[in-house]
Amino acid sequence: MNNIEVKTQPYSDQRPGTSGLRKKVAVFQQENYLENFIQSIFDSLEGYQGKTLVVGGDGRYYNRHAVQVILRMAAANGFGRILVGRGGLLSTPAVSCIIRKYQAFGGIVLSASHNPAGPDGDFGIKYNIGNGGPAPEKITEAIYRKSQQIQHYRIADCGELDLDTPGEQQLGSMHIEIIDPVSDYAELMQHLFDFDRIHSLINSGLFSMRFDAMHAVTGPYAVEILENRLGVTPDALMNAEPKEDFGGGHPDPNLVYAKQLVDALFAANAPDFGAASDGDGDRNMILGHRCFITPSDSLAVLAANAHLTPGYHRGLAGIARSMPTSQAADRVAERLGIELFETPTGWKFFGNLLDAGKVTLCGEESFGTGSDHVREKDGLWAVLFWLNLLAVRKESVQEIITAHWRSYGRNYYSRHDYEAVNADGAGQLMDTLRKANGSLTGNRYGDYEVAFCDDFSYTDPVDGSVSEHQGIRIGFTDGSRMVFRLSGTGTEGATLRLYLERYEPDPERQLLDAQDGLSELIRIGEDIARIRHYTQREAPSVIT
Ligand code: G1P
Ligand code: ZN
Repeated sequence: MNNIEVKTQPYSDQRPGTSGLRKKVAVFQQENYLENFIQSIFDSLEGYQGKTLVVGGDGRYYNRHAVQVILRMAAANGFGRILVGRGGLLSTPAVSCIIRKYQAFGGIVLSASHNPAGPDGDFGIKYNIGNGGPAPEKITEAIYRKSQQIQHYRIADCGELDLDTPGEQQLGSMHIEIIDPVSDYAELMQHLFDFDRIHSLINSGLFSMRFDAMHAVTGPYAVEILENRLGVTPDALMNAEPKEDFGGGHPDPNLVYAKQLVDALFAANAPDFGAASDGDGDRNMILGHRCFITPSDSLAVLAANAHLTPGYHRGLAGIARSMPTSQAADRVAERLGIELFETPTGWKFFGNLLDAGKVTLCGEESFGTGSDHVREKDGLWAVLFWLNLLAVRKESVQEIITAHWRSYGRNYYSRHDYEAVNADGAGQLMDTLRKANGSLTGNRYGDYEVAFCDDFSYTDPVDGSVSEHQGIRIGFTDGSRMVFRLSGTGTEGATLRLYLERYEPDPERQLLDAQDGLSELIRIGEDIARIRHYTQREAPSVIT
């Protein structure tokens, strides 16, 4: 078999965002676009000759083609071994698990997470390093620089590879192993959680649940773990068959896009527990009987109860949350006497803290929760964690959360997204806020007085690297906060995110709907930033 060198030219738009390079499928289909980016990844790495690379994706349209290209390019660039999920499938947390378990050099995940898929949808590529986590900015910037200088890429000259038959194949001097996408991951979950106890709960006749895989990658994981190992009946698994277009849906597990599940959990005879995961399996949404747990609260509850599970019974080293995530976990950390770290948005900022053993649990308000078991957020892990708590505490989801609020106080929390707005307008809104920064302190808006306003900057406590302009924070004297930032994952125009938070210590006043509990702050936020003016929108497109 021959390796060939193909002449190419740079594309100017290959800078990875919050989570890898994400573009419309049509952009990836341009001549050499995919190949350029893959070669740029390899060119930015050193010392991978003869080493192992893990490859898989969420099964969306273009996944199979991309896997074929990556395998041929990896062979031509000198990797020694490739582990690829059967059918080209691997969830993001499974890639992380497999990189760590087999001490691979790194991995490539093909996914645009929860963004819609299909020929008119999105595609994406993420590179993960040897610790199993997303490449840090230092590496993503190096990839971008290489993509701006690229002149050639290397690829093996061969036909289609068989991605569906488990076992080994040879491509030149590279071994290809088609592996079961689920088994290594399932084994790790079984080690962390009390499967016997969860099995008893599920089969007690007193408990019912639903899991919605949203026609994305977690379908096969749910079948193996929830159905085969834990005894959940098949009718409790919704949309469990992965599809290239995710069944035409938008596999983002939140109140808007997981409507079918939300409706089921809010119906008259609703099940006791409901959960969903996203396109690539790293996000989660947790619901109880007529009750929704915000991801920020979920992190706090998991932290406060972690000692009840086998994997975390020895306690937590620390907790990390992204800056816009509510401060509910801070109160748990304080009571546990452990450190809490506040990082910029994006899972990559947790990697150093996890590697250094400074934190055990991490979470983001954007339906991401995880721990030091892998280096990605992990949807099914969060679902199993909750099931383990329900099995041990023998209380309902609603009882667990209200008891938590009674004990710690409630952080009312919501995020308002203005999606695909005009990018110039959104940029002006942020610039105007940034300029107003210093002068807002001391201003009064209704019951609220501004205590501080800044543009969040983070210094990594492990390697000292600094990340600036991570979102405008406005803090009020009563501890309430709002945060404005622009999304780094969108593929159309700009997406403005407004995050709102208010602390309520009084149990008598903790049971409002979040939008009601935050109504005054919402109005203040819209006014301060003149959102209607800059976005030309009357209301947010998604509220979570
Ligand atoms: C969004 C979320 C962020 C998450 C990322 C990848 O990024 O807000 O928390 O890490 O997706 O799942 P954003 O679009 O806000 O840059
Ligand atoms: Zn995702």
